[in-house]
Amino acid sequence: MSKQPNIIAIDGPAASGKSTLGERLAKHFGYLYFDTGVMYRAVTWAVLHSSCDVRDEIAVTKIAENTQIEVLPPSAACRKYDVLIDGRDITDEIRSPEVEAMVSVVSAYPGVRRAMSLQQRRIGLRGNVVMVGRDIGTVVLPEAPLKVYLEASVEVRAKRRLLEVKQRDPQMSYEEVLQALMRRDEIDSTRSVAPLRPADDAHIIHTDNLTIEEVVRKVIDLSRGV
Ligand code: CDP
Repeated sequence: MSKQPNIIAIDGPAASGKSTLGERLAKHFGYLYFDTGVMYRAVTWAVLHSSCDVRDEIAVTKIAENTQIEVLPPSAACRKYDVLIDGRDITDEIRSPEVEAMVSVVSAYPGVRRAMSLQQRRIGLRGNVVMVGRDIGTVVLPEAPLKVYLEASVEVRAKRRLLEVKQRDPQMSYEEVLQALMRRDEIDSTRSVAPLRPADDAHIIHTDNLTIEEVVRKVIDLSRGV
């Protein structure tokens, strides 16, 4: 790679370290950090707060097409961003166990994906962006000059996620977190549209035995063609 990549795509399964890596890279390069999972979580929240059944694909798709999701700079130091739906702040609620349990079901609907990836692509094509998700390198921004796919064993991912979740919900057990991750992995990787998988030209990094600093360093080296 001769010059700095203007679009960096990061994909991988839940709790593989995508968002921490994405944020660090965005800071390093002075780029926008964009976490696409937030949009799927926001749509799921909207569905759960409507009278519509999550299994009703047509109704869920309509909600995805008609709901205005805004991701804004954070209003509090403890946040990475504010997420608003039709003006209401739902930043904390999109991490609830209810959203967590249903987000993969909602994200598997082709119409929901179409609505979300169109918006994501528009933002990504402006450039100077680190975009994080499941299908960024394969579907949303296949032209990204640098694609990274993070892998980690499900046990390591569950331990990482438990540490985060414990701050909000001290009752949560390792086993519950592990089961929820495995359920989401299964749905995300077997759906018919945009399943979770590395792009053919993605750099795959296995992070079980790496610190976040080591992962960040590896990707910065990749960006320089090292
Ligand atoms: O933070 P974590 O990795 O647990 O999940 P997330 O990135 O917030 O994504 C939540 C869910 O949204 C995933 O399990 C997928 O079902 C869906 N998602 C997707 O389908 N495509 C994306 N580009 C991003 C997220």
